[in-house]
Formats: sequence, structure tokens, C-alpha cells
Amino acid sequence: MTVAAGNRLEGKVVLISGAASDIGVAIASRCIAEGASVVCADLDPDAAARTATQLGSASLGARCDVTDLESARAVVELTRSTFGRLDGYVHNAAAPWHDGSVEDLDPAHWHQEIDVSLTGAFLMSRFVVPVMRDSGGGSIVLVASQLGHVAAQRSVAYCAAKAGLIHLARLMAVDHAADGIRVNSLSPGAVRTGRLLRSWSSLDEADSNLGPAHVLGRIGRPEEIGASTAFLLSEDASFVTATDLLVDGGYTAR
Ligand SMILES: NC(=O)c1ccc[n+]([C@@H]2O[C@H](COP(=O)([O-])OP(=O)(O)OC[C@H]3O[C@@H](n4cnc5c(N)ncnc54)[C@H](O)[C@@H]3O)[C@@H](O)[C@H]2O)c1
Repeated sequence: MTVAAGNRLEGKVVLISGAASDIGVAIASRCIAEGASVVCADLDPDAAARTATQLGSASLGARCDVTDLESARAVVELTRSTFGRLDGYVHNAAAPWHDGSVEDLDPAHWHQEIDVSLTGAFLMSRFVVPVMRDSGGGSIVLVASQLGHVAAQRSVAYCAAKAGLIHLARLMAVDHAADGIRVNSLSPGAVRTGRLLRSWSSLDEADSNLGPAHVLGRIGRPEEIGASTAFLLSEDASFVTATDLLVDGGYTAR
């Protein structure tokens, strides 16, 4: 089943990090379907370029490492110089999953998780905010997780990073409301993406095991995250800021 798109993002320019993989591609695709021009930024330059080619002329692929100040500056400047404005930023990049407790998680994996999720959102937003302000305002969406709300076993880095991201969105919303910038986080439940194949041999196996933990009895689809993100980026969410939108099929309800 596909989710119907409107034209809520007509004329808007959206920058998406981590845009070369499942959920990032679905967000980019939905933004384009709703009328936006999109910059698909990713650590993997070939995958970013491939994604942009697949999505067509409304998109541009760019290499970007969200953990690097100069790289963050460069991709925001590329967006501004190419499209002349910036209306939306989606911080979707995430480090590869590493599980562990404080006792046995490799400290390098802790740093990587915090760097990509949390510090990356800080660095990117540092350059996004002034361009957005000059564009008359905009919307920033930090992609967090239902695991930013609950404590999963052996997931200290991921859960802590995503919880931090949820509060960072509130903090940025308070600081930049006067600039016309809304900031929210979005917390998916488990979603059918390659990320789950690190723990399960197939997505159907992941669904059978993880689905029952969600009230809807299944895991999510990337396009459902794309649709919810487009809502937050659009004027339909004009009175929505400083909140977390749970798109988790009810996972956190019980
Ligand atoms: N898949 C799920 O079940 C699920 C559930 C909840 C939340 N999420 C969140 O949704 C987002 C997307 O999930 P996904 O499953 O598509 O993840 P993914 O791991 O498939 O994609 C992450 C993307 O981020 C990119 N990336 C990694 N480090 C980067 C860096 N330093 N700079 C720029 N890009 C970088 C990767 O190259 C990749 O394209 C993530 O933030 C993830 O935490 C996913």
C-alpha cells in the first residue's frame, strides 16, 4: 500500500542527511512527490549520487559527513548556492548499530553513535539555521527512535543518542521560534530496512519477531516514515513545534 502524496512542499527546498539508505530514500522520495527540491546528503558519495539519479531532476546528491564541521558547512552552502534557499532539514543519518552495555560496548562505537546522531544534528543545524532564517523560516526534523523513549537492553549508545536528539529538538525549537523555524523530532518504531538485517536473517523474520511488540502487530514501512516527515516539514504542521512525533505503531503505549 502506498501513502497518497499532496503538493504540500511545492517550491520548498529540503536537505536530508543519511539520504542514501532505506528511510532516507523514502523521505526524499515523498518530499519530491509533494513538490520539493531535495538535496540527498550521505557519507557514501556513490550511494548519494545513485539515489539522486533514481529520484530524478528535483534532487541533487552530495557527499556529507555530518560529524565534520567543514563538511556540514559545505553541504548547506551547496544547497543554498544551488537552490537559493532552504526550507527543511531532516537529520536522518545514523551510525551502524552496535549493541552493548556500559561494561562491554567499545568506546569507539559509543563515540560514533553520539557523533553521528547528536553532534551531527548540532553541527548541521549550526549552518542550516541561518540559511533557513534568511529564507523566511522553515522546519527541522531530527529522526530519533522509539528507543529514545524506552530502555532496550544492551543498547546504551543508540538509546542515549536518540533520547538526546529528542531533547535537542525541543531546545532548538525554543531558541529559533523567533526565526520562524519549527523543530521537532520524529520517533519511528521498528521499520522494514536493511538495518534490521544485522539482527535478523530476513525482513519477514524481523517482522514476525518485532511486529507483536507494536500495537498494530507489525513493523513499519519506510514510506510511512516519509509521509510523517513530510507532514512535519509542511504548513499542515504550522502549529507543531518542540514535540516528538511517535510513528511507532503503538510500540511505546505498553
Ligand atoms: N530502521 C529502523 O527500524 C529504525 C527505527 C527507528 C529509528 N530509525 C532511524 O531512522 C533513520 C534511518 O534509518 P535506516 O534504517 O534507513 O538507517 P540506515 O543505517 O540504513 O541509514 C543510515 C544512513 O546514514 C548514513 N550515514 C552514516 N553516517 C553518516 C555520517 N557521518 N554523515 C552522513 N551520513 C551518514 C549512512 O551512509 C546511511 O545511508 C536513522 O536515524 C535510524 O536511527 C530506524
